[in-house]
Amino acid sequence: MSVSKCLFPVAGLGTRFLPVTKELAKEMLPLVNKPIISYGVEEAISSGCNNIIMISGRAKRSIENYFDRSFELEELLKARGKMELYEEMIKISNMAEILFIRQREPLGLGHAVLCGEPVCKNEYFGVILPDDVFVSEEPVMSQLIKVHERLGGSVIALEYVEPEDVSRYGIVDSKEIEPGIHKINDMIEKPSLEKSPSRYAIMGRYVLSPLIFPILAGQNAGAGGEIQLTDALRKLAGIEPVYGVVYRGRRFDCGTQKGWLAANVALAMDNPELREVILNIVNNK
Ligand code: G1P
Repeated sequence: MSVSKCLFPVAGLGTRFLPVTKELAKEMLPLVNKPIISYGVEEAISSGCNNIIMISGRAKRSIENYFDRSFELEELLKARGKMELYEEMIKISNMAEILFIRQREPLGLGHAVLCGEPVCKNEYFGVILPDDVFVSEEPVMSQLIKVHERLGGSVIALEYVEPEDVSRYGIVDSKEIEPGIHKINDMIEKPSLEKSPSRYAIMGRYVLSPLIFPILAGQNAGAGGEIQLTDALRKLAGIEPVYGVVYRGRRFDCGTQKGWLAANVALAMDNPELREVILNIVNNK
């Protein structure tokens, strides 16, 4: 069974980046020369998910505009003979079929996923939290889809985190069944270190069974007063298998200023021209 649809919850207000996010969607912050959201969309497409569904909010029109054609800009670039840039602009708007659904109230990640039900209710689908940006040889979503195709069930990305970080994530109670692949027994959203069943944390990539929707629809608010995806996944794991994949790659938490800055520096260091600039600054040249 393959996965062709991918949900992107992007309605969050980005308060960690205020004041810049007073007007700008946090997903549109640049990572070197592209907005953060573009990395997630490229990952989905290269993993075979050509149908992208953004669960969006009022202040996110810029995301919609970014993936749309910009007639005036294209004409201007053509008239000025800037054909390379022109082609690049066309490529962005042809990247994928993108559908936008409004999450009318900020009721949490679980609620955002539930907003995708009309489009995803009959099949397994992907979820990408675009704040988590991965640099990896094989796209992390593709690593998850491969496990789903082989073992069935839902699949989530896992990372072994430092003890001081467990309270920032959903944490799983699991058993490793193959190198790097876990069967999930239980999970808890943002536990204290004492209550944490392990140090394996859920990262922002999921392949989910459509059975998650009725569970989410009947679910009360959990940690932080929000409808939590982790709470619904926990119930799902009691009905159908849920697997965890310790992803291969490097992750940047672009939902925080530190992580976003680190991602910019790391990606710039991978570019021969920009590497020079960073090294010169660091070496005070
Ligand atoms: C969400 C999930 C959490 C997961 C995290 C990964 O939390 O609720 O289980 O570990 O994403 O980034 P949030 O970052 O929205 O607080």
